[in-house]
Amino acid sequence: MLSLWRNASIATCDDDRRVIIDGAVVTDDDMVTWVGRAADLPPGLAPDRTIELAGRWLTPGLIDCHTHIVFGGQRAAEFARRTAGTSYADIAREGGGILNTVRATRALSVEELARASEPRLRALLQEGVTTVEIKSGYGLEFEAERRMLLAARALEQRLPVTVVTSLLAAHALPPEYKARADDYIDLICRDWLPRFARECSPHPNPLPLAREREQDPHPNPLPLMREREQDPHPNPLPLAREREQDPHPNPLPLTREREQRLVDMVDAYCEDIAFSASQLDRLFAAAKAHGWPLRLHSEQLSNIGGARLAARHGALACDHLEYATEADAMELARAGTVAVMLPVAYYVLADPRLPPIEHFRAHGVPMAVASDANPGSAPGASLLTAMNMARRLFGMTSNEVLDGVTRHAARALGLGTHHGQIAPGYRADFAAWSIDTLDELGYWIGFNPCSMVVRGGEIVLERDV
Ligand code: NIG
Ligand code: FE
Repeated sequence: MLSLWRNASIATCDDDRRVIIDGAVVTDDDMVTWVGRAADLPPGLAPDRTIELAGRWLTPGLIDCHTHIVFGGQRAAEFARRTAGTSYADIAREGGGILNTVRATRALSVEELARASEPRLRALLQEGVTTVEIKSGYGLEFEAERRMLLAARALEQRLPVTVVTSLLAAHALPPEYKARADDYIDLICRDWLPRFARECSPHPNPLPLAREREQDPHPNPLPLMREREQDPHPNPLPLAREREQDPHPNPLPLTREREQRLVDMVDAYCEDIAFSASQLDRLFAAAKAHGWPLRLHSEQLSNIGGARLAARHGALACDHLEYATEADAMELARAGTVAVMLPVAYYVLADPRLPPIEHFRAHGVPMAVASDANPGSAPGASLLTAMNMARRLFGMTSNEVLDGVTRHAARALGLGTHHGQIAPGYRADFAAWSIDTLDELGYWIGFNPCSMVVRGGEIVLERDV
């Protein structure tokens, strides 16, 4: 179905960060086929339907590229202790923290986990999120990790959202392996990874866009790409070409087979209270051998070489990074790894050490922003809050933050060629905002100006704002 989305101001988040006033978008089913000024709409366009956006702002659907929303229980008592002065690391060393949530999560079935997590995912969707990454990491035994991942896949069936799953088995040392971290890493490498590699998703991702585009049986009725090629004044915004020239090609993009797997990516936690760089070096080598893209939690509380490890393995993303150095930033830039900023965790843990945003900027490290929604360091489920905090606490600009929840977040998930931009060939995932200016994104706190969410060309949510 051909749809015309008209009367919007558009932040395309494309490779030229085009902002279009009095703009329009044309979609064909779940794909964008044209975006530009309404005055430049292709003549003779005969859409099947026209959606009036009444002057609202339109952005790509937001992408929350780092969450732990599937878990059991809560840790309010620990929060109270932390506000009274006990540190996150001390609580972890006592066997609380992540292991506290492991106990509550292991007790739940797939259905119970999905039901407990659904309200959190719903809260994200209300804020314009159309793609969300969900990690395991509170099971720390094969079946419990698997139940978490199955719950994440079940949520994708229940709510209009694209879910990318990460196996975070190396999140903390399970009590059964106390003082035997190397044995636990060996178990994951030798036993769990091969088993997860064979495990297909019970609900294959219905939206493998790259594939659809290759095989498209209904060639684009608005052959804009072609027009652009023939244009005597070539478009100053040749998206495809620029993408080809990207100096940091996405290291390990998701492929067709991977989209069908229960596990899309492999994540880990490199920290004194978790795993060492050499232990995770082994895990990453094993995960790569199975073809999984990698990402890493590191430099959150100290620097033990995580960012350098992530860069050396060509990880898609490296997350937290408060203790990263300029040398780390240079390595991440060289590897094309996205630095994922998690300002809610920074705020909740209240360690004053800030991530080196200036170094990321100076060396051209793409920065994403995510909620990190989890019961310990970032209780809640609000990407808009994370956006506000990224601006206020980390000094990121509103443009950086918008890129951080769209194009760069897509790239952190290996989806950068078809998610996170409003551009021809990209998925028709949008959020419409009842705001006067783009600067209002990441400005409001506890107020949500998202008034429409569009996923795959369908309006999946409308709210009065
Ligand atoms: O991203 N850093 C490790 N993992 C999570 C926290 C998990 C928890 O405390 O439950 C994070 O901050
Ligand atoms: Fe996290």
